[in-house]
Amino acid sequence: CAFLKKLKRNGDSALNICTWSVWEEERYPEGIKWKFLEHKGPVFAPPYEPLPENVKFYYDGKVMKLSTKAEEVATFFAKMLDHEYTTKEIFRKNFFKDWRKEMTSEEKSTITNLSKCDFTHMSQYFKAQTEARKQMSKEEKQKIKEENERLLKEYGYCVMDNHKERIANFKIEPPGLFRGRGNHPKMGMLKRRIMPEDIIINCSKDSKIPPPPPGHKWKEVRHDNKVTWLVSWTENIQGSIKYIMLNPSSRIKGEKDWQKYETARRLKKCVDKIRNQYREDWKSKEMKVRQRAVALYFIDKLALRAGNEKEEGETADTVGCCSLRVEHIKLHPELDGQEYVVEFDFLGKDSIRYYNKVPVEKRVFKNLQLFMENKQPEDDLFDRLNTSILNKHLQDLMEGLTAKVFRTYNASITLQQQLKELTNPDDNIPAKILSYNRANRAVAILCNHQRAPPKTFEKSMMNLQSKIDAKKEQLADARRELKSAKADAKVRRDEKSKKTVESKKKAVQRIEEQLMKLEVQATDREENKQIALGTSKLNYLDPRISVAWCKKWGIPIEKIYNKTQREKFAWAIDMAEEDYEF
Ligand SMILES: *[C@@H]1O[C@H](CO)[C@@H](O)[C@H](O)[C@H]1NC(C)=O
Ligand SMILES: *[C@@H]1O[C@H](CO)[C@@H](O)[C@H](O)[C@H]1NC(C)=O
Ligand SMILES: *[C@@H]1O[C@H](CO)[C@@H](O)[C@H](O)[C@H]1NC(C)=O
Ligand SMILES: *[C@@H]1O[C@H](CO)[C@@H](O)[C@H](O)[C@H]1NC(C)=O
Ligand SMILES: *[C@@H]1O[C@H](CO)[C@@H](O)[C@H](O)[C@H]1NC(C)=O
Repeated sequence: CAFLKKLKRNGDSALNICTWSVWEEERYPEGIKWKFLEHKGPVFAPPYEPLPENVKFYYDGKVMKLSTKAEEVATFFAKMLDHEYTTKEIFRKNFFKDWRKEMTSEEKSTITNLSKCDFTHMSQYFKAQTEARKQMSKEEKQKIKEENERLLKEYGYCVMDNHKERIANFKIEPPGLFRGRGNHPKMGMLKRRIMPEDIIINCSKDSKIPPPPPGHKWKEVRHDNKVTWLVSWTENIQGSIKYIMLNPSSRIKGEKDWQKYETARRLKKCVDKIRNQYREDWKSKEMKVRQRAVALYFIDKLALRAGNEKEEGETADTVGCCSLRVEHIKLHPELDGQEYVVEFDFLGKDSIRYYNKVPVEKRVFKNLQLFMENKQPEDDLFDRLNTSILNKHLQDLMEGLTAKVFRTYNASITLQQQLKELTNPDDNIPAKILSYNRANRAVAILCNHQRAPPKTFEKSMMNLQSKIDAKKEQLADARRELKSAKADAKVRRDEKSKKTVESKKKAVQRIEEQLMKLEVQATDREENKQIALGTSKLNYLDPRISVAWCKKWGIPIEKIYNKTQREKFAWAIDMAEEDYEF
């Protein structure tokens, strides 16, 4: 979403704020459509419970009893009172505007100045509640756990084509105030309560259609077997559509994932032909064909994205290959001892800067000079090209081919090559995992998956370093003890002192291994500082390569994939063969 782009530009991680999974609506590729889908619909946020009588709200120093609707919105603010947000002017302005909409006309005429509102009593009440929850007895906690399990059992699964599948996010987000990082212009606005009347249900006609809560109606019930969502609604802040989807471990998601990598494998078979073709096209008489061929070369060689067919956010000025402008590249006939260097500098997806200096083939260079002739910096580099033309061309080259397939292909094959190159058969498990992470990093760099160093980086590095120092001291001590035990044994020459030497030796070995493990961890963390491994791991690397590597070297799969990732890649973990070649 456009929101994420702004965040990324502010150097923030999207993972920090997106607490709710927002999925793009995805269509199945031709041929995959579900025949049957039945589910129970969503779980709505619990209704608002008015505050006890003794919890007071004050306006201008005087107690004021709020109507239920106004009180509910006030509690959202009260719960955030200690947060910096509530001091920000935009946040306060947006909140106050939306809050007033929920007030009775009487409240509206009284409450005219947010600075005169005193939420502290409410805030204290919520803090006490949080504290009380922490102090809950075992039985109470058990009761809550059971209730959650009951909800999961009832609403957490659906049936799709004879398979029972987990639903990823069956609970609808409760209402609250919109947050956002940086100075998001909409922060503080009221995120409405989602009602059954907002909800579109998707299920099959012959299934038991979930009944809406008593006294309510669904917005719509449809039976669209070409989409994978079960429930959708439009949120009111950004107007984006949200979905309830199946868990990534589900058969149909796994099927799609598998197909994606199969498409990349098909590209492997015809990539040489495609490359020869675009090389020929660099000489074409038609400008359109030349531009297309150079763009394709960039997509292949640099793993650039095709570009944006959809309108990007109103403010985010991000581009892809087709939408590159003259100002985004500089041509150097010679640079740092290399010929025909193109210097790229632009904001790509999620406003991540793409900066790269690449030597290109002479013909590409000459073509670029030609494309840039008589143009202003803000003119399109490829003026005869747009994303739809390029995508159409890709489809003609190979069925199912998109720019993303080139990324998937290159990322996967690079991982496989790097793993071959970097894995040292004599290494122990931690060192092998370091090699794996290095191979993964090579791919992340290729895909430009950078990140700002985490805020906690320095601190966690220092902690690790002090652990290493302590371990080194421990090792020195152990070595000293071993030395004196040896000396002792030389003098005494008895069974007991021999045994002591053996156990001291083992202790030294153990500590050496622990030290090595810590040092590997430190190297890994340092090298990972500015690289986000997750995106390529989750989206571009054929999991079968990793699984096969783990099997080959006897590395437990848990060292590479955590629980969520293992669920997502269950299809590959189950099927990988010993010598899987991408
Ligand atoms: C709102 O109340 C605050 C605190 O009493 C006061 O300083 C401020 O001037 C008031 N603003 C308006 C517009 O009345
Ligand atoms: C699915 O729903 C769409 C409308 O959303 C409709 O056009 C289509 O015919 C439906 N298909 C089936 C199989 O019910
Ligand atoms: C993958 O991309 C890199 C970087 O452009 C390139 O050097 C390499 O040749 C590509 N590999 C394959 C197999 O396409
Ligand atoms: C791309 O260009 C073609 C041909 O010039 C045109 O028909 C089409 O509408 C354009 N598409 C977009 C999304 O601009
Ligand atoms: C697994 O790792 C991903 C990051 O790649 C993280 O978002 C997720 O929370 C992790 N899951 C578990 C269960 O640790």
